[in-house]
Amino acid sequence: MVSDIPVIAIDGPSASGKGTVAQKVAERLAFHCLDSGALYRLVALAGIRRQIPWSDETVLGSLALELPARFVGGEIYLDNQIVTDEIRTEACSVGASMVGAIPRVREGLLARQKAFRQMPGLVAEGRDMGSVVFPDAGLKIFLTASAEIRAERRLKQLKQKGIAAKLAVLLQDLRERDERDSSRSLAPLKPTQDAHLLDTTELSVDQAVDKILLWYQGSR
Ligand code: DC
Repeated sequence: MVSDIPVIAIDGPSASGKGTVAQKVAERLAFHCLDSGALYRLVALAGIRRQIPWSDETVLGSLALELPARFVGGEIYLDNQIVTDEIRTEACSVGASMVGAIPRVREGLLARQKAFRQMPGLVAEGRDMGSVVFPDAGLKIFLTASAEIRAERRLKQLKQKGIAAKLAVLLQDLRERDERDSSRSLAPLKPTQDAHLLDTTELSVDQAVDKILLWYQGSR
């Protein structure tokens, strides 16, 4: 039964470290990993490439349902081209948050996300993993960090990729995105009642990973 396959749901705001933490938890448990934000980013990039306005909810919804994307090894493909780095640009970050507010897009991506639930288990990260996509997850985590530290982390990430950015602009952008992700009517970003809150402002990645693994052992 699919419902017997364990899921660890990790939700939280942009740049909270969810991606890195989820990947490491998955590695330690030899579980699959779902980066659900990548799917929203792919819809955004596909929309940008096809010049679809953010207001065209019907076309964006169909695009989400039939998204010509594949995850192969560490690479992400859209229309048979590698877009692993391109979906991380600020344009796709903003676009993902825009398309994420469209109910048809969220519905269109639902089955694709659920399909990641495979043996021996799944670590799923995003905004609504514990609330909508995997409400029966055995362990739910809500990962946060102050907006300032998240902006600093994002700046560092971008610098490593050789992308120039300004801290103040990133901070403003994060706050706007938090506001949009938290205030939308469908699947807003907020912890479920049964989620463990984990503030990583003063935690290293490894400390956060260890804490989650400890909770996981305790939840079985
Ligand atoms: O996790 P991320 O920064 O890659 O996500 C990019 C955007 O995608 C985020 O601002 C909102 C949207 N998103 C969402 O609405 N639901 C998810 N489960 C994951 C991401």
